[in-house]
Amino acid sequence: MPSPRPFSRRGLLRGAVAVAGVSLLPPAARADTPRELTLRAAPATAQLLPASNRATAVWAYDGQTPGPVLRFRQGERARIVFHNDLPQPTTVHWHGLRVPNAMDGVPGISQTPVPPGGRFVYEFDLEDAGSYWYHPHFRSAEQQDRGLHGALIVEEHSPIAVDRDLVWLLDDWRLDEQGTIVEDFGNRHDASHAGRLGNTATINGRAIERFAVRGNERVRLRLVNAANAWINALRFTGHSPVIIALDGQPVTPHRPAGDVVVVGPAQRVDVVVDMLAAPGSRHAVEDVHYPGREYTLVELEYASHPLREAPPDAPLALAPNPLPEPDPDSAERLMLDFAGGAMSRFQGGLLDGEQLDARAMVRRGRFWTVNGVAAGETHGEPLLRLVRGRSYRLHLHNDTAFPHPVHLHGQHFRVLSREGVAEPRRPWRDTVLLAAREHAEVLLVAHNPGHWLLHCHIPEHMDSGMSTVVEIA
Ligand code: C2O
Ligand code: CU
Repeated sequence: MPSPRPFSRRGLLRGAVAVAGVSLLPPAARADTPRELTLRAAPATAQLLPASNRATAVWAYDGQTPGPVLRFRQGERARIVFHNDLPQPTTVHWHGLRVPNAMDGVPGISQTPVPPGGRFVYEFDLEDAGSYWYHPHFRSAEQQDRGLHGALIVEEHSPIAVDRDLVWLLDDWRLDEQGTIVEDFGNRHDASHAGRLGNTATINGRAIERFAVRGNERVRLRLVNAANAWINALRFTGHSPVIIALDGQPVTPHRPAGDVVVVGPAQRVDVVVDMLAAPGSRHAVEDVHYPGREYTLVELEYASHPLREAPPDAPLALAPNPLPEPDPDSAERLMLDFAGGAMSRFQGGLLDGEQLDARAMVRRGRFWTVNGVAAGETHGEPLLRLVRGRSYRLHLHNDTAFPHPVHLHGQHFRVLSREGVAEPRRPWRDTVLLAAREHAEVLLVAHNPGHWLLHCHIPEHMDSGMSTVVEIA
């Protein structure tokens, strides 16, 4: 295991990624004319580490990692002309957006991969406001980790008042001493254990030391975890972040347990942080999920003069998105059991229609199952067939020794309970982080028709079996 965070960090991130609270977009596109943009995936170099280090060869959208923050307004239609200039086929998946199935970017299910030199036009309506992201869904263990990911923001009709509305896309890189990406993507150890954990943390593609803030400033931070496997648990020392949205969906504003903001892989958490500390002071943002591997992600550095005299006090609640509300009383119960991996009694299971014991499964590079079935090169018949318009209560059981961020494409679900204990606020999610051995219950109304993936978002787990298909018809 590489030692955590070995690099010195001297960068100072000022307003570089700042986006003002007011919309930077030109007037809303008319409902019948999509807002069109192009997006190009290609090899590039990026200065992940402070300037005294070498730049890193990456794969990037529009020459940058993360890719550009794609901003839209709620109610607009997006038309994204995608060009693939990578040496491999790829696709783009719009994580958390309720797009039509054919726009979902999943090879073998909703589209054929875009070949090198090819292009594909994605077009969909943005019904929901919030913080989303985009990434490939082809060879994700490699492509996502080489730097292909970016935030997609849908602005609310009436956003809350903040001084700055910022994206912090958090990533985790496995670099060698030269600052080069270690190319052991999807190796058997990562696949059978916790996934690819890196040794260098970045915010918006830079390992930075300080983040400039001003007294009495109100900042909306859209935290996006784009790492393959690293779980962020952020403690803003001396500050009390308030969570206002989870996975893009508004939630009653609340302070998280222990004031620690947990963001699992693929999850998003929007927090509002009021900068109430003394001018000139500094406060560590610590990442504390892994005992013994805590580190300071960045320090908030206060300017010598406050932005204003009094702290902000405008309301923080966001208007809900138009998600269909599931009916808990009529909901049918279904069980999903996630099994396998190191440090468990792996029983093997079904792979491409063949019943295999654990050894045979491992020989075929499969370490995980969902309800006893490991995903093969192609997905077979859907594991679950849901009727459009009906509600379902999915009982998710992580019967493994590792955490798994379980993601369902195409619709959101409410998290009802964990370990049988009702979840406060029953938040909407598109990705639920299951701790080792944890049980959770989620509730959804099947409403977006098509074949949708349900998978662990750690690509090393997904590619070695932990993935399945849900049909909604
Ligand atoms: Cu972020 Cu299958 O997706
Ligand atoms: Cu997993």
